[in-house]
This record gives sequence, structure tokens and C-alpha cells, in this order.
Amino acid sequence: MVIHNIAVIPGDGVGQEVVPESLKVLETLAEIHDGIKFEFTDFPWGCEYYLENGSMMPEHGMDNLKNFEQIFLGAVGDPRLVPDHISLWGLLIKIRRECEQVINLRPAKYIEGVKSPLANPKDFDFVIVRENSEGEYSEVGGTIHQGADEIAVQNAVFTRKAVERTVRYAFKLADSRNKKVTSATKSNGLIYSMPFWDKVFHEIGQEYTEINTETNHIDALSSFLVTKPASFDVIVGSNLFGDILTDIGAAIMGSIGIAPAANININGKYPSMFEPVHGSAPDIAGKEIANPIGQLWTAKMMLDHMGYDELGKLLLDTIEETIGAGVKTRDLGGTSSTREVVDEIVKRLKRRV
Ligand code: NAD
Ligand code: IPM
Ligand code: MN
Repeated sequence: MVIHNIAVIPGDGVGQEVVPESLKVLETLAEIHDGIKFEFTDFPWGCEYYLENGSMMPEHGMDNLKNFEQIFLGAVGDPRLVPDHISLWGLLIKIRRECEQVINLRPAKYIEGVKSPLANPKDFDFVIVRENSEGEYSEVGGTIHQGADEIAVQNAVFTRKAVERTVRYAFKLADSRNKKVTSATKSNGLIYSMPFWDKVFHEIGQEYTEINTETNHIDALSSFLVTKPASFDVIVGSNLFGDILTDIGAAIMGSIGIAPAANININGKYPSMFEPVHGSAPDIAGKEIANPIGQLWTAKMMLDHMGYDELGKLLLDTIEETIGAGVKTRDLGGTSSTREVVDEIVKRLKRRV
């Protein structure tokens, strides 16, 4: 029996609903696959923890987390209780950085039976490779003065090391897919960071002559995701550009409630972390109507990452089947609760045991 130790952080809001439900599905999958077991360890870190303890995680929380194989996280943030920059930098971004999860992988795919807001969504299927360690998300900057003279400066940091590894990751991924990489730039407006990003993209591109490349400014690229999403394969972008593009990806899929993500540690030193694209959704939290599919698809990415591709495929096929059968939450136009969707998926999976 192979035991996989997974750290589980439900976090805030709907994270507390979709994570426990998703664990049921992972347990069912472990029953299907002989010889594996998931051992889940729950960490109750989030905004309520902060209110009680004055920090988002305990002092040695990171050391503890680093001993796990993978981290399965729901969502962090409740701006009614704790300012977002404190809660996110104290938990989500802290883990991404300290566990060196330098790549954020976010697929977007047309799903039969999910109504896209696009008039003609066709069969799009692309992956956004988001730089996950630096860029616009930097701690370099500050504020001075007060009142009418107040100034805030937020610097962006782009290192050759990080840009190269992100771009190379995108090329390798495209090599296993449809052999095209689109780079998100803004070299017409940002005069240092983006010309540098473009230069590195061009250099790495020379190593992958069989991969088609294109470079789009982020503004145009955002519109192309709406007008011709099927033309993309792998898209690579900086931390902020990747963040924004992935919400567009989620929107054209039909709901941010179904979009998955994976924060990948590429050196194998620390765990990777699997969390959906969506946040804690305070507007619907506690109503049991959150869509669990983003979290479940994220679990599929975790299974793939652990080498259980067949289980990952089975899970995604079952998700699509369940949607096809009309068992969906309200964001997808259905009437089912979070639990009803998960129970249907578990039922369908159990038929295969
Ligand atoms: P959000 O993703 O939480 O919500 C945006 C919209 O999408 C809301 O209308 C919400 O109801 C809907 N939505 C989100 N998840 C859904 C689901 N599973 N099913 C159905 N509908 C869903 O984004 P926001 O409102 O900008 O942020 C809320 C909080 O979450 C903030 O504190 C923010 O910083 C945080 N956040 C955290 C993460 C993360 O932990 N990975 C990601 C994004 C936002
Ligand atoms: C995401 C989120 C986070 C990010 C926020 C909550 C800091 O939007 O994971 O997409 O910008 O990375
Ligand atoms: Mn985001």
C-alpha cells in the first residue's frame, strides 16, 4: 500500500465547502486504484485563524507543510475580516514563494454542456503558464506623504532566472501538446520589463525550432481570448498578466467555479499546491451552492502531477459526464447543491469499482 500524505487547507468562504466535498472524491478514486491511500491532514488556517492568533499560520507552519507530498488548498481571503494583502501574503503567496512553486499552470477548455458566454465558443483548449514567483507581485516599493501629495510606488521585478524557467516550461509543455506558444507582452508601454521578457522569449524560442511562436500585447491578447480562443495552445505570461488572463479563461469556460490551477514546484524540493482559480466567494459562502468542479478539476491536476494520469482522466471524464447529465450548480444554470454534484460524481465513480 502506498500512502500519500496530503496537507489540506480549506481556507476561507467556499473553500470550506468545496474542499471537504472534494476529499470524498479523492478517497473514492483511491478505492478504485488498488494499492494507494490518501492520508489527509487538515490545517485550519485562514482569516478566522488570524483573528484568533494574529497570523495566518503558526510560526512553524511552513516547516510543517514542507514535509507533505502535496498541498490541497481551497481559497484564502475574507476582506470583511482581514485586509486582503495581509491574508493573501500571510498564507497563499507565502506558500507559493517558500515552497518555490514558481509555475502556476491554469488550463481552460470548452466543456460540452456548459454554456459559454461566447456566441461561438467552438472547441478551445489552452493552458496558461503563469510566472508565479515575482514580476508585478513584488515587495519592492513604498508609500510617502499624505493627502494630496500621497504617492504609492510598486516596482515589478523580472529576473532572467525566473523568466527563462517560465518560458522554458511553456515551450516544453507546448512540445507535448499542439506546438504553439503565445507570449503575453506589453513592450509598447512598459519600457524595461517587457522588452526584457520578449528578448528571453525569443532566445528560448531558438532552442525549440519545431514550436510555433507568437507575441501579443496583453490588451490585444485579452480580446483574442474572447474572439478566437480556439487559436491558442500554450500562453505564457507574467504573474499579473497570467492572473488576469486566467480569469478570462475561466469566464469563457462558462464559470469561474470550474477553472482549475496548479502551483508547481519544479525542483522537487518542496510540495506543489493545488487550488482552483476562484477565490473564497464571500457572496455565496455558507449557502451550499458553490460549484465544486474547480476544486475537483484541481484534484485531477494533483493526480496527474503525482503520476496517476489514468485516475485524473477518469475524474475529468466523470465530471464532464455529470455536467452532461444536467447535475450542475446554479452558476452553470442548474439547481443542484455542492454536495449533490459531488454525490453524483462519487456515485458514477463507484459504479466502476
Ligand atoms: P471570487 O473568485 O471569490 O468570486 C468572484 C465571483 O465568482 C463571485 O460572484 C463568486 O460568487 C463567484 N464564484 C467564485 N467561486 C465560485 C464557485 N466555486 N462556484 C460558483 N461561483 C463562484 O473573487 P473575489 O470576489 O474577487 O475574491 C473574494 C476573496 O477571495 C478575496 O479575499 C480575494 O482576495 C480572494 N481570492 C483568493 C484566491 C485564492 O485563494 N486562490 C483567488 C481569488 C481571490
Ligand atoms: C489567484 C488570486 C491570487 C493571485 C490573489 C488572491 C492574491 O487572484 O490565485 O488567481 O493574484 O495570485
Ligand atoms: Mn486570480
